[in-house]
Amino acid sequence: MVEKLIKTFYETFGDGGDIRTYFAPGRVNLIGEHTDYNGGHVFPCALTLGTYGIVRDREDRTLRFYSVNIDSVGVVETSLDDIVPTKEAAWTNYPKGVVWAFKKRGFKLTHGLDILIYGDIPNGSGLSSSASLEVLTGVILKDTFGFDVSMVDIALIGQDAENNFNGCNCGIMDQFASAMGKKDNAIFLDTNTLQFTYAPVKLPDAKIVITNSKVKHSLVNSAYNDRRNECETALKELQTAVDIQTLGDLTEEQFEEHKSVIEDEIRRKRAKHAVYENQRAIHAVEALKANDIALFGKLMNASHESLRYDYEVSCEEIDVLVDLAQAMPGVIGSRITGGGFGGCTVSIVENETVDTFVKEIGKAYLEKVGHEAEFYVVDIGDGAGKLD
Ligand code: GLA
Repeated sequence: MVEKLIKTFYETFGDGGDIRTYFAPGRVNLIGEHTDYNGGHVFPCALTLGTYGIVRDREDRTLRFYSVNIDSVGVVETSLDDIVPTKEAAWTNYPKGVVWAFKKRGFKLTHGLDILIYGDIPNGSGLSSSASLEVLTGVILKDTFGFDVSMVDIALIGQDAENNFNGCNCGIMDQFASAMGKKDNAIFLDTNTLQFTYAPVKLPDAKIVITNSKVKHSLVNSAYNDRRNECETALKELQTAVDIQTLGDLTEEQFEEHKSVIEDEIRRKRAKHAVYENQRAIHAVEALKANDIALFGKLMNASHESLRYDYEVSCEEIDVLVDLAQAMPGVIGSRITGGGFGGCTVSIVENETVDTFVKEIGKAYLEKVGHEAEFYVVDIGDGAGKLD
């Protein structure tokens, strides 16, 4: 596949010169949803699906981008000295944002680049195609210019680009998972301190199955930023009663004791989700470590219920998928994953049930919703880097 991309690179940008190849994965979050901007814990893992970049140095100060996936946009050019978000720049606002964030930190990009991109994560599916593109760009710039930044810095730079160049007020989870992923492990990350541990995901009898509802979500236009604001207001209200920095500081009991200071019922539900989901993520990791996969699955199901009714980031099509999955014998747990409002579910499915899962849920979904779902039986891969 990489060879084919290199051929397309030469056809697009012309022959010659040394080229380098990079990869940054997408991610799936197993549990701990909408907790990363609330000082809570998340438990994502990097996928083997992701975004590839083929790169060649230029002598001038031009950046040229081409995406094999979005061929219709063609080659997009920009000058290193004119990095501002524009509508015409389309998808290239993501890599441009990362260039902007490096420049903002005082890093000097001394020459331009030709960059070809190809991704095998479906766009807008909630599997972090944009975060992987940001982290990919970070890795390309670090390697090309020898910048002294860690992979955690690259994640933070990617988040800065997403927040302040592309207008989505996301947390750190996606970029962190793409930068710091480890094969066969999920990352238990405290988003308040950025301390993390890797937890092996050993599932000899089961598979991780992602189901794409094919309902596209756009975090920028969705209620994602509203949820964040609602939680911030709820936190301020709680701070009048209890000494906390984030919603992640509260146990369920403390929340129940103080929740009445949150004046609005909707905000109370949002904060409840953030507090309980953080605790669920902590318990789920303990369950996984104790090899209690059944408990892990129950916590996934409870996570979905909370995202559906309290946080209200699910949608009809996703609920159809989750209801079908949770009702099927051999399914250990199933929930929406990622930002929400469409996108994908993640399910833990016993090995011998996987075929039935894909067939039956695929059929029932088509009947109920009127379009097909897509299924990916995934492996957990490593974080971003240069390919040999
Ligand atoms: C999106 C954001 C993340 C996180 C999730 C919800 O993927 O980019 O930072 O908030 O939604 O858990």
